[in-house]
Order: sequence, then C-alpha cells, then structure tokens
Amino acid sequence: MSLATKPIAPSIRGRRSGADSGRRASPYHFPPGLKYNLPFYAFTKFRPADPIGLFQYLADNYGDIVHYKIGRKHIVFLNDAAYMREVLVVQNDNFTKERTVRRTKLLLGEGMITAEGSSHRIQRQVAQPAFHRQRIGHYADTMVEESLRLQKSWRDGQQLEIAQEMMHLTLRIVARTLFRTELGPEVKSLAEAINRIMGLYNYLVALPAVEALIQLRVPGLARFTQGKQAVDAIVYRMIEDHRRAPNHSGDLLDMMLRASETSASRGGDQESRDELRDQVITIFLAGYETVANALTWTWYLLSQNPAVEQKMFLEIEEVLGTRPPTADDVPRLCYVEQVFAEAMRLYPPAWAMGRQARHDFALGPYRLPAGTTVLASQYVTQRDPRRFPDPARFDPERFRPAGRATFPKFSYFPFGAGLRQCIGESLAWMEGKLILATVAQKWKFALAPGQQIQPQPLITLRPKYGMRMRVDKRH
Ligand code: HEM
Repeated sequence: MSLATKPIAPSIRGRRSGADSGRRASPYHFPPGLKYNLPFYAFTKFRPADPIGLFQYLADNYGDIVHYKIGRKHIVFLNDAAYMREVLVVQNDNFTKERTVRRTKLLLGEGMITAEGSSHRIQRQVAQPAFHRQRIGHYADTMVEESLRLQKSWRDGQQLEIAQEMMHLTLRIVARTLFRTELGPEVKSLAEAINRIMGLYNYLVALPAVEALIQLRVPGLARFTQGKQAVDAIVYRMIEDHRRAPNHSGDLLDMMLRASETSASRGGDQESRDELRDQVITIFLAGYETVANALTWTWYLLSQNPAVEQKMFLEIEEVLGTRPPTADDVPRLCYVEQVFAEAMRLYPPAWAMGRQARHDFALGPYRLPAGTTVLASQYVTQRDPRRFPDPARFDPERFRPAGRATFPKFSYFPFGAGLRQCIGESLAWMEGKLILATVAQKWKFALAPGQQIQPQPLITLRPKYGMRMRVDKRH
C-alpha cells in the first residue's frame, strides 16, 4: 500500500508531539510521541539499558510511528510495514546508516555492514559470488561434517552451555566455508575474545566520546582493546595464510584479497591491510554470531514445546532416516524451516535496525528534519498481535506456506530489507536447517534446572544468562 493512500488511524491523526507543540510556523510535523526528552524518563518508565522495553512502550502507547528526542536529536520509531518500506526501499537514497553504526565501527571498522556509498557497493559486489545460491550448496557438506563432529563429542546426560557450543560450531563453519581456514583450539580463544568485546559493548556505547578514549588507551577500556587485538591477530593470520597459498578455486577471502590488491596499487599498503581486516572481521562476526543465537533460541523453544519437537523429529526421520543430510535435502526439510523461522520471529538475532535521514523528508502525513534517526525493531514488530495472534506462543504452523503468504513484507524481517538486506540470508537458512536436522537426529535438549532466560539486546540478541541444557541421546 502506498503511504500517500495509507489511512491514518483516527486515534493518532493530527496529534502532535510535545517536542513540536508550541512552536509556531515549524516546517515540520512530528508524529505523536514522548512529551519530554527521553532521559527525563530514565529510571521511571524505562530503564536506560532496556531498548526493547522502550520500543514496546512506544508501540503500545503511541501507534505505528512514534517520535521522541534525545537532547536535540529527533528519533522516529516505526512499527508499520508501509512506513518501513518507505524508508528502506522507496526513499532509501535519503537514508544512511552513518550515525546508527558509529559505535559498531569500534568493532567492525569499515566492513560491509558499516560502509556507505561506493565503498559499500564495491564490497558487496566483490563478496556476492560467495553467497550465490549455487555456490552455497558446496558449503553443505562442511556444515554437516562440523555438526557431526560436535555432536559426537557429547555424552548422554551431560550438561552443556548450548549458546557456547553453537558459537564454536558456527565459528568453525564460517571459517572453513568462506575463509578456507581450520580453526583448531584457537576457536575457544577467538570466541572468548569476541565475548569479552560483546560484554563491554553496552557499556561502551553509553560512554560519550568513547572512540577518543579508546585511542588514548584509557585503563578501563583496555579489555576491549585486548579483545580486539586478539581477534585482529587471528584475522591477520588467515589473510597471511591466503597470501602465501592462494586458492584459485576462489573462496571469499581470495576474492577479497584480489580486490584489495587492486586497490592497494592505488592507495597505501597499510590502509588496504586495515580495510581487508575490517571486511573479514565483519563477515566473520555477522556470519557466526547471528546463526549461533538463532540456533540457541531454537533449541530453547523446542525444549519448552514437546509437541513441536516431536513433529520436527518425525520429519527428520521421514526425510533422512539415519543418514546425515546433504544440500539436496534442504528444500525437503519444510517443518525444520518453519521451526527455525518461528524461532527467529520470537528471538530475532538482529533485533533492531536504524537509519539516519540526509535531508528533510515526508513519511505519511508527517514532515521530518534532516538528521532524524529512524528505528525499527524486529523484536517488537514480529510480536505484534495484529499480525501474529497470541504472539508469545511458539507456533511454527504460522509459517506453513499458505500462512506465510498472508504476512505483509516488513511484518517479518529477521534479515532486514531493501538494498542493505542481509547478504548471507540463503546461507543462514541452509546452515540453520542442516545443523538442526543433523543434531536432532541424535540428541534432544532439556533446560537445566534454575536456568534463567532473558534476552539481552547487544549487537545481536543473546541469552543474558547463557543457555545451560542437558543433552539426552534419542537413539
Ligand atoms: C540468522 C542469521 C542472520 C540474521 C538474522 C542476519 C540479519 C541481518 C540483518 C537484519 C541485516 C541488515 C542490517 C541493516 O539493514 O541495518 C544483515 C546484514 C548483513 N548480514 Fe546478516 N544475518 C544473518 C546471517 C548472516 C550470515 C551467515 C552472513 C555472512 C556469512 C551475514 C552477513 C551480513 C552482511 C555482510 C550484512 C551487511 C549487508 C549490507 O549492508 O549490504 N549475515 N544481516
């Protein structure tokens, strides 16, 4: 539906935000929203470290488009498919990720997720062939092999930290498939370094001028710097290995190296070394942490819903019997896909996304200034009862082919949308399904007694207290 014709709900039509009221002849017309600056509400309505609580409150109280301010900055939160389409697709050229990813750059530098303009376009073009449908079929065997290796290391009745097991598994897979690198025991130190960084992330993003403090090596931030150095060291090693032994069949790192050597002939050597490091780290982190979290939440939801779990086991038995899956089985594991889709509805690994307007813009009946930040949250929108009745219920039937067709795009968008839609989406679906099917052939999981469950919105949505589970052999 075009926004020009979109009916505005009577309850929100014509209401003006507190930030706008009282100002005469303003060229802007703001959506309804919080009367005072956001920090005014800290510790009363919202906790500062609970962005999901804030978004849910806004959606519940003000409708599908909500305005608030932090200091002098205007922010608009969207909970509506048509508005999101307008920002991410129709008016895409007017929006940048610049401010919303500024702090993410501390970790990812100038990789594909944070880059803009021609730098982004070139990086995406260089990487695209590695994510082509035909090519990712070749990754299936590695995914299954690593899943088999992991599940063979478990003992019946053992308690495991499943979030960590999934992280190690997906780290090994991304390293082998895209970067032709075997991560031996260093998988642990790499995961630990990343965990250290992630643990500090919320604290870091709240610090004013943190970029400068990190450069100055302020003592409290040393742990971040050390974690980053450990990750960098492993990535530099991978790059050096590839330089010495290039593979002419061409994995992703070879493609990146070739492109970087071309740009190095134009620019400085150190600069291109840093750029390449950032590009590799970005794919590495984007490619493992998201999938690992999606799988962790899926195992948790299955453990709480035995009927769904049973139905998934049955499909796996029907499709595979006792043999391990291959790429050809992926399209036939339909219910496994529904389970994975429903888990990402309830616990989307990418729980929010943001853009910033370059110029003044119109959204429906509203007119907003350049610099406005526009936010949307997969977590909140994918739990909207208007689209997903009884939204907290884990019900993979919602994703039956017939059911799925009824969702408007942008009411379910775990992989984002528009030009910056996730490049790894097809790979992630295949990987998720193959890991679920391979592991569930042998094991089922039960939540450990006393395990607390709380999603923690860092760069991705992690379980705050981890996910201790007991593994029980099925056969
Ligand atoms: C369940 C798994 C995954 C989820 C939920 C997910 C989610 C997302 C989302 C929402 C975006 C868009 C962010 C925005 O527009 O602001 C994105 C972008 C991206 N994702 Fe994924 N992702 C997943 C897996 C992967 C994998 C496996 C890879 C690579 C191996 C990957 C690489 C990327 C990259 C490079 C981008 C930036 C694309 C661009 O800006 O052009 N992701 N992802």
